[in-house]
Amino acid sequence: MSAPPRSVLITGCSTGIGRCCAEGLRGRGWRVFATARRADDVAALASQGFEALQLDLDASDSIQAAVDDVLARTDGTLDALFNNGAYGQAGAVEDLSRDALRAQFESNLFGWVELTNRVLPVMRAQGHGRVVMNSSVLGLVAMPWRGAYNATKFALEGLTDTLRQELAGSGIHIALVEPGPIESRFRANALAAFERWIDADASVHRARYTRMRRRLETAESTTPFTLPPEAVLEAVVHALESPRPRRRYAVTLPTRLFAVLRRLLPAALLDRLLVRAGNS
Ligand SMILES: NC(=O)c1ccc[n+]([C@@H]2O[C@H](COP(=O)([O-])OP(=O)(O)OC[C@H]3O[C@@H](n4cnc5c(N)ncnc54)[C@H](OP(=O)(O)O)[C@@H]3O)[C@@H](O)[C@H]2O)c1
Repeated sequence: MSAPPRSVLITGCSTGIGRCCAEGLRGRGWRVFATARRADDVAALASQGFEALQLDLDASDSIQAAVDDVLARTDGTLDALFNNGAYGQAGAVEDLSRDALRAQFESNLFGWVELTNRVLPVMRAQGHGRVVMNSSVLGLVAMPWRGAYNATKFALEGLTDTLRQELAGSGIHIALVEPGPIESRFRANALAAFERWIDADASVHRARYTRMRRRLETAESTTPFTLPPEAVLEAVVHALESPRPRRRYAVTLPTRLFAVLRRLLPAALLDRLLVRAGNS
């Protein structure tokens, strides 16, 4: 009798990297639990043959229900978790309300930790597991107008480094994927978060925001170095399937470049470079 397919739970599969990885991993024989927070997206995933579940990272009961549902279908096992669902809160740090910052951390960090902590006991009990955290080049270096998002990804990097140390010897491997610009709905969703939370007209940065809006209205594919989401899939596949998964996967040239430059350049020069990149 052949072994059952390995199982993976993925967050944020309505679009972008999550959707691409759900399709790619299914194509490689994984049993994919594809999750999205909205009912119509769950229905769309189900109509494409996925085992689709509702999972909103902002809601503990939704996280709990999704995990319970998966474990009921797998006899209490789960081989892998891909933490992916998130958004970018655009806007200057000076214009961030406490609520805007809290909302950003709820989706991009607190929900991820809560979900991971629900899955880890299962992986510990079975003696193996893989967890992949979708970080960013903005988990390595900071850019203007992205402070809230930067903060969540820096926090994710630190928390994941700690968790990896604490998981030593458990048979569970945790990896960080660090994409630079990837084609997805990320910019459109960042623009929506900006309009929702930032009072642009009242800001000292309102002239800058006109340019920022224009940038966010442009598709990712128009920027240099942008890669399709399949580039992230490749890293995720290695992190999930390789006998020797890495701790970090730099995806796109900007990530590889800034990972090196942040170590080599004096802080003032690095700042100048990042301001220019962040304003372009
Ligand atoms: N695109 C890039 O250039 C880039 C670069 C570096 C890192 N990343 C990271 O890649 C990951 C995926 O982003 P993407 O590029 O694929 O962007 P995307 O196309 O905007 O997709 C983001 C996904 O996250 C979901 N999501 C947002 N908040 C959620 C919540 N509270 N609960 C559950 N799902 C939620 C979205 O669902 P809805 O459709 O319901 O909003 C969507 O499915 C993120 O972690 C992002 O930080 C992206």
